[in-house]
Amino acid sequence: MNTWAIIVAAGKGERFGSMKQLELLSGKALTEWSLELFSRLVEDGLVEGIVLVVPPDGLGTYLPQEKVTNTPGGTSSTPSVHIVAGGDSRSASVRSGLAAVPERAEAVVVHDAARPLASPELAKSVINAVRNGASAAIPALEIVDTMKEVEGSKVLRTLDRTHYVTVQTPQAFRANVLRRAHESGHDTTDDATLVEMIGEDVVTVPGERNNIKVTTTDDLVRLNRLMGPEKTGPMSKLRIGNGFDMHRFGHRDSHLVLGGINIPHNKSLMGHSDADVLTHAVIDALLGAAGLGDIGHHFPDTDPLWSGADSIEMLRQVVEMLHNQSYHIVNIDVTAIAESPILSPYIVSIQSRLSEVTGGGINVKATSPEGMGALGNEEGIACLASALIVMVA
Ligand code: CTP
Ligand code: MG
Repeated sequence: MNTWAIIVAAGKGERFGSMKQLELLSGKALTEWSLELFSRLVEDGLVEGIVLVVPPDGLGTYLPQEKVTNTPGGTSSTPSVHIVAGGDSRSASVRSGLAAVPERAEAVVVHDAARPLASPELAKSVINAVRNGASAAIPALEIVDTMKEVEGSKVLRTLDRTHYVTVQTPQAFRANVLRRAHESGHDTTDDATLVEMIGEDVVTVPGERNNIKVTTTDDLVRLNRLMGPEKTGPMSKLRIGNGFDMHRFGHRDSHLVLGGINIPHNKSLMGHSDADVLTHAVIDALLGAAGLGDIGHHFPDTDPLWSGADSIEMLRQVVEMLHNQSYHIVNIDVTAIAESPILSPYIVSIQSRLSEVTGGGINVKATSPEGMGALGNEEGIACLASALIVMVA
């Protein structure tokens, strides 16, 4: 049975907060996971071609260009991917995809790019159900929680969960049934609903618990936790990051702040916050290791909230962000480069202040620039930090 796949990746990700289909999971964009799944089925000869539905302005350069060729649906035997622009709703995007599926297709399997971990077995199972005579086949999961009908926070009644399932993609259809179902032009959250509306039978096959749909950022955290060593190699849970920061000396003062410690000096450092250059380097190393951007992204210096702020508080928030993503800090190593003041008397206090917040594993060193350049000229202080973190979930 000639079978085509449609991957819908044209959503805006409003609940996620950005185009989630471009988010990375183990180094691959979510959309790539689905492309690889169906490319494998093309290689196996189970699927003839793939239509990838993207936002009208495209998916930018995020997808490896060699994997996608922008040719209209044709007879090409290579597993090239035909790209078409999606619509305002998921159903409209499926309709765009369907228009690019060749007439000769007898079965069509539709999949959400937001579900990166659907297995080839699951895709084969819905396709085979259609090959064996079903008009439509969809993966379903039994509900394990007790179900209640509510109005706001008020419970109206308890439902008999044995009559309900939740459903996933990929969903497979006889091509003519799916085309007919979409003629109505209705918008629904899956394609099987439209098939039900034209009175055709839909059957279920067992779904997969790990076939999680990324809807909010929490779902991506769950997926990251799921990616155990057996899937991505024994070192996959370790992450390394570096941070570098420099601040200029400013006005005459009695002290400056480094690693949360007041250090007597005749000039303070200039900056939007307390200019704690050492803590800033540590923050950047941690954020870098966790793939969470940089300090400017989380604590913008245009935001009055961080004016004069205690950088140790920022560090505390970053450590909490990492814990929320199930990261544990293995160790942090910091080097401060300063002609003055002499930092050696304060190293132990800085280490203990920082380890209160990070939970330990902190080493701080100081070095002199030997009179060279701006740092040697006592124009300011630079710090660099490395951090190693590990995912513990
Ligand atoms: N989708 C699409 N075109 C749309 C809307 C959704 O191709 N106009 C795709 C999404 O990219 C996703 C799948 O349909 O792969 C499931 O949709 P959903 O999880 O709702 O994604 P978004 O619509 O992007 O998210 P949100 O509803 O939060 O905006
Ligand atoms: Mg949506």
